[in-house]
Amino acid sequence: MTRPWHPWHSERVLRCITCQAVHPLRDVIYRCGSCGDLLDVVFPRPTETGAALAATFRARRMSDNPIDRSGVWRFRELLPFYDNEAQIVTYPEGNTPLLEAPKSAGYAGLRRLRFKHLGFNPTGSFKDYGMVTGVTQARILGMRAVACASTGNTSASLGAYAARAGLLPIVLVPETGVSFAKLSQSLDYGALTLMVRGDFDVAQALLRKLAPRLGIYILNSVNPFRLEGQKTVMIELLEQLGWEAPDRIVVPGGNLGNSSSFGKALRELHDLGLLSKRPRITIVQARGAAPLSEAYEGGHSETLVRVHARTLATAIKIGAPVSWKKAARAVDWSDGWVMSVSEQEIADAKAVIGQDGIGCEPASATTLAAIRRLASEGTDERIDPDETIVAILTGNVLKDPDYTIRYHQSSLFEEFRSETIVTDHGRGLTSQFANPPVVVDARKFMRSVGVFLLARAQERRNIKVVGADVIRRRNWPGRWPVKVADGWRDANVALFRQIRVGSAASVSANR
Ligand code: F0G
Repeated sequence: MTRPWHPWHSERVLRCITCQAVHPLRDVIYRCGSCGDLLDVVFPRPTETGAALAATFRARRMSDNPIDRSGVWRFRELLPFYDNEAQIVTYPEGNTPLLEAPKSAGYAGLRRLRFKHLGFNPTGSFKDYGMVTGVTQARILGMRAVACASTGNTSASLGAYAARAGLLPIVLVPETGVSFAKLSQSLDYGALTLMVRGDFDVAQALLRKLAPRLGIYILNSVNPFRLEGQKTVMIELLEQLGWEAPDRIVVPGGNLGNSSSFGKALRELHDLGLLSKRPRITIVQARGAAPLSEAYEGGHSETLVRVHARTLATAIKIGAPVSWKKAARAVDWSDGWVMSVSEQEIADAKAVIGQDGIGCEPASATTLAAIRRLASEGTDERIDPDETIVAILTGNVLKDPDYTIRYHQSSLFEEFRSETIVTDHGRGLTSQFANPPVVVDARKFMRSVGVFLLARAQERRNIKVVGADVIRRRNWPGRWPVKVADGWRDANVALFRQIRVGSAASVSANR
C-alpha cells in the first residue's frame, strides 16, 4: 500500500507520519502525542529552484567556512531547523567517496558497480551524518546529556560529537557482541558506557524508560533530527553522479534509520526537480535479523513482527527496528525491494569488497551479497547487468577487525559457535576467499616466501605441487599446507622466477 506522503509543510514543525498531527519543532518528543507514531521534521519548500540549489551546494565546496565544507551543512537549505549558524556543530563530516569496484561488479555479474563509502567519516561510519544534526538540535534545546542504545557505531559517533559540543554522552550497548574497536571509541571519547545484559532491543527499551526521567536527549534514529542529517548522503551522492539518478540504491538495514532518511531525501529532491527518476531503494538485512524482509515476504508490510536477532554482522543485529514504517514508506514510494542474505553470503561478499582495495564492516557487505543474488537467475526481483547501481557501505573495515581476521583464518564459524547464528542448511561457514597471514622463519625466509608465492599460484591456477611440508603453521592456521618437491631449493628458485613472469603452467613441470 502506498502511504500519502507530502514532503513539505507551511511552517517548520514535527509531523506525524501516520495521523499528520503537527507538534512544535522545539518539543523534546520522539513520537506523535496523538497517535504515538514516528515524526518527521518538515519545513516549507525552499524558495530557490532545484538548479539554483545545486549551484549553491557546488559553490560551497570552494569556501573556507567549515559549515560550507561539511558534507552535511553544505546542503543546509534542506536542513532549515536551526535559527542561526552559530548553533551549528560540525566536525566536519560527510564528503565521502564514490568508489568504482570492478572485482565486486564481476563477482555480482554486473558490468559496473560503485560503492558510496560512508566509513570515511570522522568516527568511521555513516552515523556522523546524522549525529551532527542530532547534536546540533540537542544544543539548540539546551540539553546537557545525550544518549543512545547502540550496536557500537551510534555510540562511537555520539561519544565524539557530544564531546566536541560539550555535552555528556551516555551510551547503552549490549554486554556481548559489540566489537572492541567500536567500544574503544566510546570509552576514549569519555562516554558513560553502560553494558547491558541483553541485546540491542533490550538496551533500546531501557533507554526509552530512562531518558525522560533523567532529562536526557535520545539520539537514536527514532529522533527525526538524526535522520535529517542522514538525508545528505543522498544529496551528496546525486551531486557526485551529476544529478543523474541511478536505477537502484542498495543499503543495509538494521534499525532502518538510514533507509528511512534516504527515502525522505529522495522524496524532497524529486519534488525540487533534482531527480531524473526514482532510484529503487533496496534494503538488505541479515537473514537472522530480518523482520522487515520477513514482513514483505509474507506480504504484510503494514505490520512488523519482532524477531530474536542472530547474526555475526553485529551492527545490524536488531530484531525490532524502530524506523520500519518510514523505511517501508521509502521502499513503497521508490518501488523498491526488501530482502535478506545469509551469513555465508555476507562473509564472502565482504572479502570480495576487500579485494577491490576497499574494505568495510560485515553489515555493509550485505549489499554486495544481495546484488549478486538479484543478478543471478531464479529470483523474483531481477537486476539487469546494465542497471546503474550504487551500494552503500556504512562502516569502515577497521570497525570489526575480529570478524575479518577470523574469516581469513577460516575460523569465523568456530569462533562464534556460541552465538548460534543462522547458517545455510545448518552447516558452518567456509571462507572461500581466505587470505591468511603466513608465519615465516627469519632464517628460512626465502624458502618460506617462495613457498608462499607458489601456494598462491597453485591456488589461483589450480596447480598441484607435492613433496615435503615446509610452511610453519604455528598460531596462524593458514589454508596452505603446501608441499613442494624434494630438492626444493633449486626448484624453488626456478619457481620463483616463473611465478614472477606468470608462467604458472610450467610450475608443476619442475617437480
Ligand atoms: N551498517 C552499520 C555499520 C551500522 O552500524 C548500522 C547500524 C547499520 C548498517 C544499519 O543502519 O540502523 O540505519 O538501518 N548501527 C546502529 C548502531 C544500530 O547502534 O550503531 P540502520
